[in-house]
Amino acid sequence: MSITTGDFRAKITATTLLEKKQRHEIITCLTAYDYPSARLEDEAGIDMILVGDSLAQVMLGYENTLPVTMQEMLHHTRAVRRGVKHAFLVADMPFASYHLSQRESLRNAARFIKEAGAEAVKIEGGEKRARLIERLVNAEIPVVGHIGLMPQSVHAMGGYKVQGKTLPAVEQLMQDALALERAGACVVVLEGIPREVAAMITHQLEVPTIGIGAGPECDGQVLVFHDLLGLTFSPPAKFVRRYADVGAVISNALHAFKEDVKSGAYPSDAESYHLPKETQAALDAIPPEQPPFDSAQGRLHRRLLGTAVAERKRAVRV
Ligand code: KIV
Repeated sequence: MSITTGDFRAKITATTLLEKKQRHEIITCLTAYDYPSARLEDEAGIDMILVGDSLAQVMLGYENTLPVTMQEMLHHTRAVRRGVKHAFLVADMPFASYHLSQRESLRNAARFIKEAGAEAVKIEGGEKRARLIERLVNAEIPVVGHIGLMPQSVHAMGGYKVQGKTLPAVEQLMQDALALERAGACVVVLEGIPREVAAMITHQLEVPTIGIGAGPECDGQVLVFHDLLGLTFSPPAKFVRRYADVGAVISNALHAFKEDVKSGAYPSDAESYHLPKETQAALDAIPPEQPPFDSAQGRLHRRLLGTAVAERKRAVRV
């Protein structure tokens, strides 16, 4: 099955994204977790594809992003890599993969680039991640920052709450954003913050900001693939726009399949394979009083079948 062909668009890189910001061209970003979603997004011309650790929830059914492992993230990143030709491919580093020693963080980040084909890693956190980001960038690993509502800090934040609502919190977010840029982050994701704050940060930074629940003034927008398609099982957040109800489409198809199988409407003759004519003729030649299968011997009545086929060949020659 082929979806589209003949695509000659240029590869999107961190530099392309920076140039887009400079030209005031909006950046599009979506999460992807497997080959078909990655391929469809890439072919739709999405600029940046993120293998988000949100896969813990939307793909693996966990309650939050904390349990997902390096192995799981690498596995999904490899699948996405195979579907992406043009977009800038970013992989989320999972919780606790960059929180222990710098050495281990560096090794884990390098695995996403070397073993899974990511072009950048994303890590959550502001000022306190600046030294780590510098080290990663020095090791030729591009880094996407992520501040505001940080799902890996769900316990520390006391739940999924919009961040940056007070003056000190706004100040801290500005400092975080600038620290990420100074440390060498090539993109900064802003999640769950007031649009006014996202606008200030976007204006202040030279590198692009990508917003999710951060209003329209960001340099780009990202949504979770399953949210956009209506493939989740809980009510969507305020910022989610559902572009399709794929959950209902799938559910209707599953019910229709079940009913067709139960009623015998599936599979039809046209959806079945058939015996070659000679084999069918040989089977038909078995006398009706003789059951075609010899259950004592555990096989078809070969002698009879052989005779029938030989007779048929003779008839054709004559
Ligand atoms: O994991 C994820 O999907 C993310 C995006 C929401 C930015 O980090």
